[in-house]
Amino acid sequence: MKRFLAILAIAFVSTGALAQRNETLLRDWTFNGTQQVRIPHDWAIAGPFDRSIDLQVVAIRQNGETEASEKTARSGGLPWIGKGFYECNVDIDKTPETKCTLLFDGAMSNAKVYVNGQFAGEWPYGYNSFHLDVTEFVKNGSNAIRVELENRPGSSRWYPGAGLYRNVHLIQTGETRVPVWGTQITTPVVSSEQAVVSVKTEVEGPLEGVTVFTEIVFDGQVVAKSAESPAASLLEQQIELGHPALWSPEDPNLYKAVTVLRKGLQEIDRYETVFGVRSISVTAEGGFQLNGQRRQFKGVCLHHDLGPLGSAVNESAIRRQLSILKDMGCDAIRTSHNMPAPELVQLCNEMGFMMMLEPFDEWDIAKCENGYHLFFEEWAERDMVNMLRHYRNDPCVVMWSIGNEVPSQGTPGGIETARFLQDICHREDPTRPVTCGMDQVWTVNRNGFAAAIDVPGYNYRTYYFLEGIEMLPQGYLLGSETASCVSSRGVYHFPAEKVFSATTPDLQSSSYDEDACNWSNIPDVDFALADDYPWYLGQFVWTGFDYLGEPHPYDTDAWPSHSSYFGIVDLAGIPKDRFWLYRSVWNTASPTLHVLPHWTWPGREGETTPVYVYTSWPSAELFVNGVSQGVRTKRTDAPPADGSQRADVEDRYRLMWKDVSYEPGTVLVVAYDENGKEAGRDSVVTAGTPAKLASEASFVSDDLSFITVSVLDKAGIPVPTADNPISVRVRGRGLRFKAIANGDATCLESFLQPQMHLFSGKLTVIVERTGKPGKGVVVLSSKGLKKTKIRII
Ligand code: GAL
Repeated sequence: MKRFLAILAIAFVSTGALAQRNETLLRDWTFNGTQQVRIPHDWAIAGPFDRSIDLQVVAIRQNGETEASEKTARSGGLPWIGKGFYECNVDIDKTPETKCTLLFDGAMSNAKVYVNGQFAGEWPYGYNSFHLDVTEFVKNGSNAIRVELENRPGSSRWYPGAGLYRNVHLIQTGETRVPVWGTQITTPVVSSEQAVVSVKTEVEGPLEGVTVFTEIVFDGQVVAKSAESPAASLLEQQIELGHPALWSPEDPNLYKAVTVLRKGLQEIDRYETVFGVRSISVTAEGGFQLNGQRRQFKGVCLHHDLGPLGSAVNESAIRRQLSILKDMGCDAIRTSHNMPAPELVQLCNEMGFMMMLEPFDEWDIAKCENGYHLFFEEWAERDMVNMLRHYRNDPCVVMWSIGNEVPSQGTPGGIETARFLQDICHREDPTRPVTCGMDQVWTVNRNGFAAAIDVPGYNYRTYYFLEGIEMLPQGYLLGSETASCVSSRGVYHFPAEKVFSATTPDLQSSSYDEDACNWSNIPDVDFALADDYPWYLGQFVWTGFDYLGEPHPYDTDAWPSHSSYFGIVDLAGIPKDRFWLYRSVWNTASPTLHVLPHWTWPGREGETTPVYVYTSWPSAELFVNGVSQGVRTKRTDAPPADGSQRADVEDRYRLMWKDVSYEPGTVLVVAYDENGKEAGRDSVVTAGTPAKLASEASFVSDDLSFITVSVLDKAGIPVPTADNPISVRVRGRGLRFKAIANGDATCLESFLQPQMHLFSGKLTVIVERTGKPGKGVVVLSSKGLKKTKIRII
């Protein structure tokens, strides 16, 4: 009988060894010993805002400052500094062959991981994904996992967030398996007739008797399959694909490689990799080409926070951001200045955005007292390798960046560090070019630094572009970071004029979109460079969305400003006027016609109130209360742009009526096409006093939904200056309140309480599905105004 039991036990173990891969998300944790949380979780976003948090006394050399001054809210004024710990228990069905890995998409920061009380590993950099083989610490049954985190003051130039703000995965496999990020898929041959897919697979564990094959799946169907080969620790298989569906931003076709390990007839592991078939090249003659087509990047830089949701990653919130950018005609994202959440990369694959992934804001020289320079020497290569292996199969990723405005660019030894990092990229991924965002442009043009990088990336300094193209060997330049125009949604300052980092008592920036920084320029200069010079590879605008922290020009003792003014879209996800300026140039599929400013200016009667129109049409006529103010036509005979910051290029991209005298009523713009035929109309009307609330679901998903709330007068005209306090009530078991934001960089009201003031007549309410059945109705009210309800279906 004993003998029989022993045989049974062995059989059980070996079935265990042959068990398939099991990946679970560890969602439910206890935070700091008492609070039950679901991750992704950002412990700081609940606030409160406080001026005293992370005051940094610093001279921002990149901004041309020479003397240190106290920077308020540089990292957002939220309580992200300090220690926190997360604990969870997880049941694991462990056999002697089970391998267990914990994969963290990112943990902010200085993570130390313990399993059943034993130290399992650490990872200092909060933005990177890392994995730990925890097999030796895991036991059959319940296992205690603890993650300790610590954020140090003075370690960031923006809001980093805090906690387990990205997902944590538990991966269980048998002994022989494909390790995390263990496939490398390239497409060495790409044409519309045929593609060759090369699949390199790492296999870990005992290899004897193990075979490997890979199936290629498109649209749910297996469309090609490799031979079945004996496993090796690194195996390369080539698979031909007839008439491949190529990946591009316009047509983001995705394939899946399913790699199967078998022992005899038994499947012992199955590993899936999303990839795309597409080619990229950068040459002096052809510029940047995707699938053989030259194109210039119409890109934006993004920080990782999601405004009122903080840094806690959320797929539907990212999807909403990308939908807004897609409509603008944007086709590329730079993840500044850190590794992205995997959800962002996956959505860029799916929705069609090219990506430049950038790991660092610092190398070995400090920008922040406690920044990444403290870890660079020991961790840089490991951090690079994780980023490169994680994302080397994603078709959306078309370029790596090795850093942003690192002070090393101007120092002896800087080129060696750049080569060290660039070589790691080339070693891990020979298929993509490498760039670096450089701000010391005069210096790098001369000291060999820019010449050493595959793709010289200039941050601003457009006045050095023509020099750079003459001096550098590559024959092309990238606007790795551009514009840094500042504006507050719905706020206009008079007179409308070109200024640099203007400050006014309201702590806002004007939405005439003529205010840039000392080191930057208005968007029109970048448009002109792209239009005039084929060697210009295109640009990544700073930034697509406003973010928490870096409230320039209100960053020096200008509390309560605590979030950025750079965004094309505000912190609440509501487009500023600039959105339509970019859209008018970038979205070539659907016309744009947008008029600014609003037309409710009691007290400005008779004063000059310029009207600007952002449109894809060549000309337009403006009427104020039916009286024509004349026709304006975009200038097409301008000399090529010289890149100067003050270049007079606005009239190539905007239609401007500078001398309009304000009188209440209607401003009407009538756009004309190339043949002078009417093509479209837009208008703004003077509003009366606030009378009622209005709401509109601007984005609805299975998880989060976003509602834009505004105030109308009696006649239904939006009141653009309204700042009424709004209360939110959610009825029904299916829905709950999640967050609120108004896009005002000075607003100290909590993002997580169901009330807030409107800013420039609007705000955004975010609600979340509870997973329970039942309808959800959001009721919005404000004293003295007619309330509004909206049902989320
Ligand atoms: C750049 C920097 C960005 C941001 C931006 C603001 O120099 O790379 O992180 O600070 O300036 O204009």
